[in-house]
Amino acid sequence: AFTIKKICCIGAGYVGGPTMSVIAQQCPDIQITLVDMNAERIAAWNDPDLDRLPIYEPGLSAIVEEARGRNLFFSTDVEAAIEEADMIFISVNTPTKNYGKGKGMAADLKYIELCARQIAAVATSDKIVVEKSTLPVRTAAALKSILHNTGSAVNFHILSNPEFLAEGTAVQDLLNPDRVLIGGENKDAIQALVDIYSRWVETDRILTTNLWSSELSKLTANAFLAQRVSSINSISELCEKTGADVQEVARAIGMDSRIGSKFLKASVGFGGSCFQKDILNLVYIARTYNLQEVADYWEQVIVMNNHQKQRFADNIIQTLFNTVNGKKIAILGWAFKKDTNDTRESAAIYVSDYLLNEQADIHVYDPKVPAEKVFVDLEHLNSRPLDETRRLVSVSEDPYEACKDAHAVAILTEWDEFKEYDWSKIKRHMKSPAFVFDGRKLLDRKQLEDLGFIYYAIGE
Ligand code: NAD
Ligand code: UDX
Repeated sequence: AFTIKKICCIGAGYVGGPTMSVIAQQCPDIQITLVDMNAERIAAWNDPDLDRLPIYEPGLSAIVEEARGRNLFFSTDVEAAIEEADMIFISVNTPTKNYGKGKGMAADLKYIELCARQIAAVATSDKIVVEKSTLPVRTAAALKSILHNTGSAVNFHILSNPEFLAEGTAVQDLLNPDRVLIGGENKDAIQALVDIYSRWVETDRILTTNLWSSELSKLTANAFLAQRVSSINSISELCEKTGADVQEVARAIGMDSRIGSKFLKASVGFGGSCFQKDILNLVYIARTYNLQEVADYWEQVIVMNNHQKQRFADNIIQTLFNTVNGKKIAILGWAFKKDTNDTRESAAIYVSDYLLNEQADIHVYDPKVPAEKVFVDLEHLNSRPLDETRRLVSVSEDPYEACKDAHAVAILTEWDEFKEYDWSKIKRHMKSPAFVFDGRKLLDRKQLEDLGFIYYAIGE
């Protein structure tokens, strides 16, 4: 049996940060050190001003405040934390590869491998190494091979413990998970991790499997979730042509308990760092085993999602009399969903990029995303010279300012506050006719039409 007194987590990002904060809160007797090579991020986690933590999640700052300095520490000294720990979580990023073999599809495992090599080099006592990052099935085999060939007498046990939290609800998801999944080979190592989670999660929700099932379940869960969004989005386009209303359809099918009502909200397209990356990775894995039908099947989820973003932008252009050149368009919401400051793969980036191709004058407002992030997100697409992006795009700190004199407002994130705005005031200061394109079906059609807006919503 293993006794876990010290945990180290490599990668203090959207997963490592909240996950370790909650473990630290629930296990005051275990010392947890989160390490990251990004010194700026670590400094932000250590900032006395809790409003400046690097990640915004409802409820997170209170937990950090409770545990930080007691049994939760943030550091850039990766080696010291590895050396001391009984259990090491690897929670580094696994982005889509942007070079070489598998470019644009496969997961880039260079950060994972670096961690394994660093653990192998530093460890002088036995360690349980936990894969927290989302990884291609069979990655544990590579980790094992690196860790078991160090020539030292140190023993390593590898577990797979994928994370299912969603951003914006991370703390609640961690405190009250649908399930915790632990894959592994060594019974005692598995039990050591079960013992940690069982402090606050009922044991019948803690599932143990073999390594490969655990790794593959994570990619599969994200593929199924994204598939639901693409499925309802495909129906939203049909609704717009036929007079059916996608919300009514979603409600009608969702009451079938075999289908279920969650995750059937039509939208401008899913974003976030996970869905696209993980499906592309699944497709890539299927292709490497020569499973073309399997690969093509899942690839359609991405095809549909790209189409949804493109057709939303096309509809704006067409409706504004086929030209948006020089027209001010307000973008409300830049984050990929509400209650997060994360913008990775946000639909807003792509919709704005299409509109910028048409030389639109884009004004962005988001309650949590800093201005510089908006510019960097667009610049990363490499669609146009940097000075052109800075010339065509402005970021406002005030939503009314963003909408003033605009021809159209596009709602791309479902922030609650957008519902509370004084839409009559917004209307008074917009150009006429004033258009609203609601990519989240957030606002009330009747209210907006009564105010004189021309209102378009996904799936209506
Ligand atoms: P992130 O980019 O926010 O954080 C990763 C951190 O790891 C970064 O701060 C980076 O500096 C650090 N890092 C990378 N290599 C390092 C090294 N060798 N040493 C020290 N630090 C290193 O990423 P994230 O969103 O937290 O995702 C991490 C993993 O979790 C990914 O595999 C992702 O697929 C998975 N995941 C993410 C979510 C989510 O909602 N974001 C949910 C479930 C699973
Ligand atoms: C997802 C998974 O839900 C989570 O389990 C996994 O650990 C990480 O990936 P996340 O990307 O943080 O989480 O958020 P999620 O709530 O899944 O939303 C993803 C995207 O889909 C968002 O852009 C969201 O707006 C969109 N979405 C979601 C819809 O358009 N309609 C829906 O019905 C649900």
